[in-house]
Amino acid sequence: MTVMLEAHNLQKRFLLKPGLLARMAGKPAQAVHAVNDVSLQVRQGEVLGVVGESGCGKSTLGRMLAGLLPQTGGEIAWQGQRAEIASAAYHRAVQMVFQNPYASLNPRLRIGQAITEGAVYHGLIERSRAAAAAGELLQQVGLDRGYAERYPHEFSGGQRQRVAIARALALRPRLLICDEAVSALDVSVQAQIINLFMQLRREHALTYVFISHNLAVVEHMSDRVVIMYLGRIVESGPAREVFAAPNHPYTRALLADAPRLGASPPAHQPIRGELPSPLAPPSGCAFHPRCPHANARCKTQVPLLRDIGGRLSACHLNH
Ligand SMILES: Nc1ncnc2c1ncn2[C@@H]1O[C@H](COP(=O)(O)OP(=O)(O)OP(=O)(O)O)[C@@H](O)[C@H]1O
Ligand code: SF4
Ligand SMILES: [Mg+2]
Repeated sequence: MTVMLEAHNLQKRFLLKPGLLARMAGKPAQAVHAVNDVSLQVRQGEVLGVVGESGCGKSTLGRMLAGLLPQTGGEIAWQGQRAEIASAAYHRAVQMVFQNPYASLNPRLRIGQAITEGAVYHGLIERSRAAAAAGELLQQVGLDRGYAERYPHEFSGGQRQRVAIARALALRPRLLICDEAVSALDVSVQAQIINLFMQLRREHALTYVFISHNLAVVEHMSDRVVIMYLGRIVESGPAREVFAAPNHPYTRALLADAPRLGASPPAHQPIRGELPSPLAPPSGCAFHPRCPHANARCKTQVPLLRDIGGRLSACHLNH
């Protein structure tokens, strides 16, 4: 399968400015290791799910892949070309859909104009055709053409997400990076938007990176899945296989803890221990303070992501 987007050893560190007291004490700036050494491939036409607990670096990874946030290390290649990532063509081809589309909609701009303004600016839609194009885009996302005349406050949460999707589609993207795109919606509306994503995937030959902390949604949507813990990928592989038989102890704990579609609720077994601070990640395997299988080696040696037969996992138990 053709590789569309590839990340090699991607890294993001955020430097935190020390507070006044820390500066007076001569303490250096602290760094959050939001994304650490992440390598992945997004294949043409697939849905790649990205899951993990809050703060594990999903959004940071998504924004770097979309070219919205510069990485502090590593490389991103688009269709095999490293330089492409900074180009205007890349910024059109890769669009993000966020959790709260209302925040990015100008309250005084009619929806029709909001949907097409970027595409008109880029010369993808002629200004004289913008109204007709807005109507077509609204229809594509399941809304009435007449809604083009309305303002953002006149829409429900699900409708606004449809508007955000229409606006992304106007730019004729190849890849949509959805960051918690259905997480704020009611369950019934979630299902409708997921169906819309799947329908658009067929109609426009789209590829998706689907970021969510909601495992049920990711399991339902994804062809392949990436599991992150404290900025690193701990396991990746075909979604069906990973969900049916997780390998990494973190994946196992995460799945044991989560409600699943069509399954009876599991006996509640929260992952033991607190999520460590990304300011001071644990040594060795970052999961070791919480892992029921941790041994001495886990405390000192970082486990590498290795092929375990059609799948990657980063755990010393495998070797
Ligand atoms: N601009 C920033 N400055 C400093 N730290 C940041 C910044 N953005 C993110 N971080 C930190 O980087 C880490 C990863 O954050 P990120 O938002 O990518 O996680 P996430 O997996 O998307 O979480 P969530 O599920 O809550 O959306 C967190 O510790 C976060 O506090
Ligand atoms: S490397 Fe060790 S601590 Fe990390 S997940 Fe595997 S067994 Fe647990
Ligand atoms: Mg996030």
